[in-house]
Amino acid sequence: MALLRRRLKLVVTVMMVNLFIFILISRQSSQDKSGRHKVTIPSTSFWAKMTPSPAFWNRQQQILDLHNNPILTANYSAADMPDWLNETVLNTDQFDCKPNLKVTTRVKDYNSLPDRFKDFLIYMHCRSHPITVDQPNICKEPPFLLLAVKSLSPHFDRRQAIRESWGRAGLIANHTVVTIFLLGNATAGDHHPDLSEMLRHESALHRDIIQWDYRDSFFNLTIKEVLFLEWIQTRCSGARFVFKGDDDVFVNTYRILDFLAGLSEPKARDLFVGDVITNAGPHREKKVKYFIPESMYTGTYPPYAGGGGYLYSGDVAARLHNVSQHVALYPIDDVYTGMCLRKLGLAPEKHKGFRTFNIEEKYRSNPCAYKSLMLVHPRTPQEMIQIWAWLRSPDLNCQ
Ligand SMILES: *[C@@H]1O[C@H](CO)[C@@H](O)[C@H](O)[C@H]1NC(C)=O
Ligand SMILES: *[C@@H]1O[C@H](CO)[C@@H](O)[C@H](O)[C@H]1NC(C)=O
Ligand SMILES: *[C@@H]1O[C@H](CO)[C@@H](O)[C@H](O)[C@H]1NC(C)=O
Ligand SMILES: *[C@@H]1O[C@H](CO)[C@@H](O)[C@H](O)[C@H]1NC(C)=O
Ligand SMILES: *[C@@H]1O[C@H](CO)[C@@H](O)[C@H](O)[C@H]1NC(C)=O
Ligand SMILES: *[C@@H]1O[C@H](CO)[C@@H](O)[C@H](O)[C@H]1NC(C)=O
Repeated sequence: MALLRRRLKLVVTVMMVNLFIFILISRQSSQDKSGRHKVTIPSTSFWAKMTPSPAFWNRQQQILDLHNNPILTANYSAADMPDWLNETVLNTDQFDCKPNLKVTTRVKDYNSLPDRFKDFLIYMHCRSHPITVDQPNICKEPPFLLLAVKSLSPHFDRRQAIRESWGRAGLIANHTVVTIFLLGNATAGDHHPDLSEMLRHESALHRDIIQWDYRDSFFNLTIKEVLFLEWIQTRCSGARFVFKGDDDVFVNTYRILDFLAGLSEPKARDLFVGDVITNAGPHREKKVKYFIPESMYTGTYPPYAGGGGYLYSGDVAARLHNVSQHVALYPIDDVYTGMCLRKLGLAPEKHKGFRTFNIEEKYRSNPCAYKSLMLVHPRTPQEMIQIWAWLRSPDLNCQ
């Protein structure tokens, strides 16, 4: 009772303070209305002077932001750009794919970085790679759902298991589904065997392979992302929804279609759901796969959906495609997509059906555990086929 009274007192106090502020503000604005216009237009730049970030990615982004700032580009010449920019402007031509060796002196600890960073940095400006296998007509009839699976040339068994299970294209639950696999080039430089003939055969057989000629490495997954966004716009812009994920996940396509069919506007148009990670930042421990040195990036990460798999609308895909041209490539693809979403003013939404960190061990062989899930990571090709058989079975009876 005493607590209730105290709460009531607090609420009343807060209301009184608000009222007081309101009266103050309205007096102020009515004075402005009756008085002369007090708006003064500054004669010089009124925004804070931008100072260069010591971290390479951040600085590249500052340069891109200045280039894409309509006030600056419309009314100011190169001479008005901050001095430090003249010193740091590197290559902003995404079609020039020659190595940019200036980077080697601009990143202060370049020489002591692991090779994957060196490779990433000297090609960071380049986004255009030739498409070597395409399926130009795969979306002739725009699908309700486009399933796009990031794969690597040697993963024949994973792709086949996906075709035979959750990635079975065609009409599912009365919705059209198209499945494609996104590949780069598994090169001899990375000691991959030459599987190009087998891939050619697979592609002729299934007509679901999209391949670009660039080195398929972990840090180049962001290239896969931007090339895919471009591909959607040219080949599949009518897709209503897009799922993008890895080839070692199980996707409950039934559950996803059910979820999508139940969405209404404007939720459907702005859809971006997955296993969202918030308040994360770069790993500074050198041995971790996700390690990023301070000379490369400072700051936290925006909310992002784990790259195991996420779901978004065709409309968001178009917006991501546009905005990605204004976001510097970052070596971790799911974080990069989070950066693009932030620039669009969209926040990815967490859905507990996306289990990129797996489910509890005791439920893993229980068919009913998969019924309400959308995605589980990781699963082997055999597990994918097993789980799919469970979900399709008319005898599956879950409460
Ligand atoms: C900026 O440029 C546009 C055209 O490029 C011009 O119409 C406008 O007056 C300029 N604004 C200022 C503040 O100089
Ligand atoms: C920056 O470069 C532009 C041309 O690229 C030049 O006109 C300008 O004077 C330079 N500014 C500084 C501060 O060096
Ligand atoms: C299947 O979809 C078509 C076209 O969207 C619709 O006309 C038909 O009623 C649907 N059938 C069922 C069983 O939902
Ligand atoms: C892939 O890389 C190999 C060398 O490792 C090269 O011979 C081939 O032309 C590249 N492109 C494709 C599409 O395989
Ligand atoms: C990304 O791909 C390009 C083009 O094939 C290659 O030159 C570069 O080394 C790759 N970067 C990484 C980090 O693997
Ligand atoms: C993307 O950019 C193009 C060209 O600027 C524009 O016409 C289009 O409306 C944009 N699309 C979206 C979805 O923002």
